[in-house]
Amino acid sequence: MTISIRRLEEADIPYAARAIQRTFFPSAVFNDPKAPESKGDPYANWLYDFQPGLLVRNLESLSIRLRWLIDYGCPLVAEEDGKVVGVALWMAPVPKNQSYSDRFWAYTSLWKVWFQQVWMNMRFGYAGLNVHRYNIWKKVQQETHDEVLANDDKGVWFLNIVVVDPAEQGKGIGKKLVTYVLDIADKSGIRCYLESSKWDPNVTIYRKMGFEVAKEMVCDDNGEICKLYSMVREVHKA
Ligand SMILES: CC(C)(COP(=O)(O)OP(=O)(O)OC[C@H]1O[C@@H](n2cnc3c(N)ncnc32)[C@H](O)[C@@H]1OP(=O)(O)O)[C@@H](O)C(=O)NCCC(=O)NCCS
Repeated sequence: MTISIRRLEEADIPYAARAIQRTFFPSAVFNDPKAPESKGDPYANWLYDFQPGLLVRNLESLSIRLRWLIDYGCPLVAEEDGKVVGVALWMAPVPKNQSYSDRFWAYTSLWKVWFQQVWMNMRFGYAGLNVHRYNIWKKVQQETHDEVLANDDKGVWFLNIVVVDPAEQGKGIGKKLVTYVLDIADKSGIRCYLESSKWDPNVTIYRKMGFEVAKEMVCDDNGEICKLYSMVREVHKA
């Protein structure tokens, strides 16, 4: 078994988007008897009402994000003997004292994403995305970043999503997808960051990769609560 890590390309987008959906959504929404049994992710179950059209809208939303990451982040795939079996989406650090031209291109790219999302919402509607809860989560996330990442003048590498095919988990593939960027971060003296929606087993797995819980993020919609664990990995010096 040979595992290699490379950057995600346009041709990998359908695999990556489907793999992420399979991880986050309960198997019942796929209407596929062969889909592995899953109750879905606690964050996705809190954020979405599962309505017809959600999978198609979400696929479009993920594809927009993946294309943006190809240009501005570090999206990775893992290949096992030539077959893609995992994906990790890393957002690149944004330094606080960015040059004028870097800031200009960053804003331009975000505006492009914003227009694409508006167009997506005109075509598909929200299709079960609970916008009220999305705004609660965004507010809690911003407060957490203001507190936990306040002193990161160089920015942080943000591990947005990491997913390994269920049949391939526990073979070291997730670790390879993560350490690829941890090594880059260590060399440039930059911390790494993630938000996990599951304590067990994910916080344990991320601790093994050097992350520690910095704050519990409580998203509360009138007593219906979603907890996320904000985790930071300090720079490891060689
Ligand atoms: C989380 C995930 C990406 C980890 O990838 P993986 O390939 O299974 O993990 P690895 O085999 O590289 O294991 C990394 C470390 O965690 C440990 N580990 C793996 N699964 C574990 C489990 N269920 N419980 C405790 N430790 C575990 C391994 O022993 C290894 O430790 P080591 O460094 O001491 O050897 C993968 O399990 C996954 O896709 N889970 C479902 C999707 C998900 O929840 N993604 C996160 C949300 S975005």
